[in-house]
Amino acid sequence: MTIVDSSDAGPYVPGQTTGGPGLPQRRRLVTEIPGPRSRELLARKSSAVARGVGISLPVFTDAAGGGVLVDVDGNSFIDFGTGIAVTGVGNAAPGVVTAVQQQVERYTHTCFMITGYDSYVDVAEALNRLTPGDHDKRTALFNTGAEAVENAVKIARSYTGRPAVIAFDHAYHGRTNLTMALTAKAMPYKSGFGPFAPEIYRAPLSYPYRDGLSGDEAAREAIAMIEKQVGAASVAAVIIEPIQGEGGFIVPAPGFLSALSAWATENGVVFIADEVQTGFARTGAMFASEHEGIVPDLIATAKGIAGGLPLSAVTGRAEIMDAPHVGGLGGTYGGNPVACAAALAAIEAYEHDGLIERAGEIETLMKARLTDLQSRDPRIGDVRGRGAMIAIELVDPLTGEPDAALTAAVAKHSHDNGVVLLTCGTFGNVIRFLPPLSINDALLHDGLDVVAHALEAA
Ligand SMILES: Cc1ncc(COP(=O)(O)O)c(C=O)c1O
Repeated sequence: MTIVDSSDAGPYVPGQTTGGPGLPQRRRLVTEIPGPRSRELLARKSSAVARGVGISLPVFTDAAGGGVLVDVDGNSFIDFGTGIAVTGVGNAAPGVVTAVQQQVERYTHTCFMITGYDSYVDVAEALNRLTPGDHDKRTALFNTGAEAVENAVKIARSYTGRPAVIAFDHAYHGRTNLTMALTAKAMPYKSGFGPFAPEIYRAPLSYPYRDGLSGDEAAREAIAMIEKQVGAASVAAVIIEPIQGEGGFIVPAPGFLSALSAWATENGVVFIADEVQTGFARTGAMFASEHEGIVPDLIATAKGIAGGLPLSAVTGRAEIMDAPHVGGLGGTYGGNPVACAAALAAIEAYEHDGLIERAGEIETLMKARLTDLQSRDPRIGDVRGRGAMIAIELVDPLTGEPDAALTAAVAKHSHDNGVVLLTCGTFGNVIRFLPPLSINDALLHDGLDVVAHALEAA
């Protein structure tokens, strides 16, 4: 489907379009996907970039902002991906751009472990204030989600003096050696990359669509496995995503997370919430733990924290965070000043621009559209998620078996028709919607129309 917009004069010239919310908010295709410039770059990528680094939608970006991403051929896509839940405040959000520009003109780096700077402390204070619980907290900053998770485990082991870490079925915690061990899915994340870090054990997750268990029942199964196969006295930490990301946007049944958290407290086990994907207003609360009323001991954050700049954090109880010796935590770039400046601007937007409420509105709109589709299409087995983190699970209507081929076809059709759409799930059968919180309703509806057509066509 080519959408022709006659208001545009002349051919598209890459490199001259400014991103941010001023970008025309429309879906518009002017070439086939990928267009000639993207095809040229894809050819250069094949000869220059390791093949292990894949691209799911084969176009190259020229500008992005609000709810759209424009490629180097001038095609304007509706952005239902936000770079995997990163640009929640919008791509090139004006506050973030200004903060970054001002910071790079002052200094770009000192290494916080060499000489300090106030923005690192400001971010730590903001996270201590915003994360669940009003106990005394401390924060340490890093670069990526995986690095935050690794450090949360290091801190928990240092505090407890215990080795074992419990992760869950369908979990995704990253691609470094320790986080590969925590991640559940072999292909593409782990295959051929072992051996993995020891003392990681996997417990069953509450997956209401597939296990039919209540939160309490599922928690009892998980706790029984931990106690019988690992032994509570050996466990340093339980790590869990309050809503699973890559694993399929699985929302555990109510009561599952709180039962696990209570068990952890009773047994001196550190409860780590991996809110790398769910954090920062994404789910209609500042942190997804709030929906279940849980107060994690440690919380790992990244992605949405800094509007697109690489930054991550571990925040938690002061006595746990302060267990490692002086000099035991850090890294050259952790809490880089440019990323901290961006984070302060992004946090300001999350707190004061109504983005938490906007995530709730996005949930209402998307769930209404998707449940309506489901009522007419039994291949949509489940509609789930919270806020602007919504998914549909596609299945064979007769057997309930996951339908990865249909999922891939829907994603491809959507890409070809101007929507950045991501898939996920252990079985590759989940379409996930992660729009920026700054997207408007018209784009949401238009993008969902494309997905509906894609389902019809498949
Ligand atoms: C829940 C969760 N934890 C950790 C990570 C790893 O983050 P990063 O890719 O920044 O290392 C991700 C990334 O998708 C994630 O979704």
